[in-house]
Amino acid sequence: MPFPVQRPRRLRINENVRRMVRETALSVDDLIYPIFVTHGKGVARPVESMPGVANYSIDRLLIALEEVVQLKIPGVLLFGIPAAKDEAGSGAYDDEGIIQQAVRAIKKTYPDLLVVTDICLCEYTSHGHCGVVKDGRVLNDPTLELLARTALSHAEAGCDMVAPSDMMDGRVGAIRQALDENGFTQIPVMAYSAKYASAFYGPFREAAGSAPAFGDRRTYQMDPANAAEALREVELDLAEGADIVMVKPALAYMDIICRVKDGFGRPVAAYNVSGEYSMVKAAALKGWVDERQVVMEIMTGLKRAGADMILTYHAKDVAGWLKEG
Ligand code: PBG
Repeated sequence: MPFPVQRPRRLRINENVRRMVRETALSVDDLIYPIFVTHGKGVARPVESMPGVANYSIDRLLIALEEVVQLKIPGVLLFGIPAAKDEAGSGAYDDEGIIQQAVRAIKKTYPDLLVVTDICLCEYTSHGHCGVVKDGRVLNDPTLELLARTALSHAEAGCDMVAPSDMMDGRVGAIRQALDENGFTQIPVMAYSAKYASAFYGPFREAAGSAPAFGDRRTYQMDPANAAEALREVELDLAEGADIVMVKPALAYMDIICRVKDGFGRPVAAYNVSGEYSMVKAAALKGWVDERQVVMEIMTGLKRAGADMILTYHAKDVAGWLKEG
């Protein structure tokens, strides 16, 4: 029975009614804060294309994390920027590497903060690719061993979860096996399962100095035109032992978030990436959008689409706004 019997506006009449029928709730529990750690001392170097984001040396990282802990954000995702890069990305799996040192320091100071480490080679390789390069090609299987070594070395340093972002075939299985064989059966894998070859990673590559020196990442990251393939990637990662599956970027891929959640019913993470952050920041700085309202709308939209958790550079702001109510 349509209008005048049905009047959807009745349930929008005031805030109390709206609260009662609200379908999606965003909470601080949903947030993971990505953060960049670099070598040196006393470093807090702003990332120009990401206002509010910086590269921190470990001493300054510990200070920056105080606010994250106070805001009750459950976890951080760590990215490392090494002092030196080489062909094989050896800084990634060096037990004295930047991430390994940072994890030990964080767990000592904030034992309860969930520390997730990004597993990839691109920040550590001189060519900027996510795997081993030979004759201009990124090799899959030789990369798996290095990724597994990286994950194991992060686990030995004390991380709580690993997040492979390289998009090599079979890496979740390789990492799971390496962790299990070494007694780290309790460490979950958050797989960047549907990770697209996206221009929205631009500011991150400035932050991490990880732009590929030649070519692009389209032989390993996914084609933005594909959705069925994303479901296949998720299926494979789950079969290999992924505990959480990620869709990345988030905003142009909300259909994928929705289909992954509906199709598999497993924990889904959405990565609200650097370029998505920078667009909002730039418009807000110009006074063209209301930052708080736009960010909260984006977060709510990602939750509504089916994300169980959101990795976002806005996390501290969001947590603060949620607290204010
Ligand atoms: C590493 C990695 C990237 C991001 C997360 N892990 C960059 C890339 O694939 O080029 C992007 C994160 C962001 O843009 O915020 N492979």
